[in-house]
Amino acid sequence: MKGIILAGGRATRLYPVTKSVCKQLLPVYDKPLIYYPLSVLILAGIKEVLIISTPSDIGSFQKIFEDGRHLGLNISYAVQPQAQGIAQAFLIAEEFIANQRVALILGDNIFFGDKLGHVLSQAAANRQGATIFGYKVRDPQRYGVVSFDKNGVPKAIVEKPQVPLSDWAVTGLYFYDHEVVDIAKNLKPSRRGELEITDVNRLYLKKKKLHVQLLSRGFAWLDTGTPDSLLDASVFIRIVEERQGLKIGCIEEAAFRMKLINKKQLLALGKAMHTPYGGYLERIAAT
Ligand code: G1P
Repeated sequence: MKGIILAGGRATRLYPVTKSVCKQLLPVYDKPLIYYPLSVLILAGIKEVLIISTPSDIGSFQKIFEDGRHLGLNISYAVQPQAQGIAQAFLIAEEFIANQRVALILGDNIFFGDKLGHVLSQAAANRQGATIFGYKVRDPQRYGVVSFDKNGVPKAIVEKPQVPLSDWAVTGLYFYDHEVVDIAKNLKPSRRGELEITDVNRLYLKKKKLHVQLLSRGFAWLDTGTPDSLLDASVFIRIVEERQGLKIGCIEEAAFRMKLINKKQLLALGKAMHTPYGGYLERIAAT
């Protein structure tokens, strides 16, 4: 299975911070925001990753991750010349996907929770159709919203509805079979001029091939779209990391736990960074 991180967009809601710096490179406590979605793909068992970003930002991601070999990954890069919607990622990535199944994660989504790895590997194991994740929120009108019939079967998905039919927001993590590229090719831009991921999901729903995995209240799905939510995410991560002495979204640790790199490699990655983050990697490698 292939993995895509979409790290484009102009993040105007974070201006002036994001006027010259890409949002997904901003720190969330002790690591760049994009580490969190990359760690999710690693925990899902994905080894081939495509990062899509703007022409001006793509070089920064290349600088951070290079070809991914040090993490046991194969990371490649593609440019989204203009932000024309999340589903555009499948058109840009057609060659990379090469008729295989693919997971897409938005570069600004943070997931945390017990047995996250298990939930992810289940989704990755699903060979047919699509798997998306629902998360109960207080302000569903800001997101794609999925509603269910009385038997819990998904009934409708609407993008940013004024009157939401449920509290279940659709998160920015999606698993698809190989048909997603053809589906994306036949999409029409929405009223806001974008190829909507919600339209892709609606097509899978119509074919009764959409699985909606609800994330229980024990999970955290964090938003980073505004100065407040970005700061809240940093504080949340700091509190949990400090309390447990374990890191969230640590790609090197995730690669080690998924056996993509060995103790020696993890130790070397830690030693190269003369920071508490590097010290953490050394500690994990020593246990
Ligand atoms: C996008 C999707 C939306 C989804 C959200 C998750 O919204 O269009 O369906 O719920 O990501 O982060 P956007 O970030 O483009 O407002």
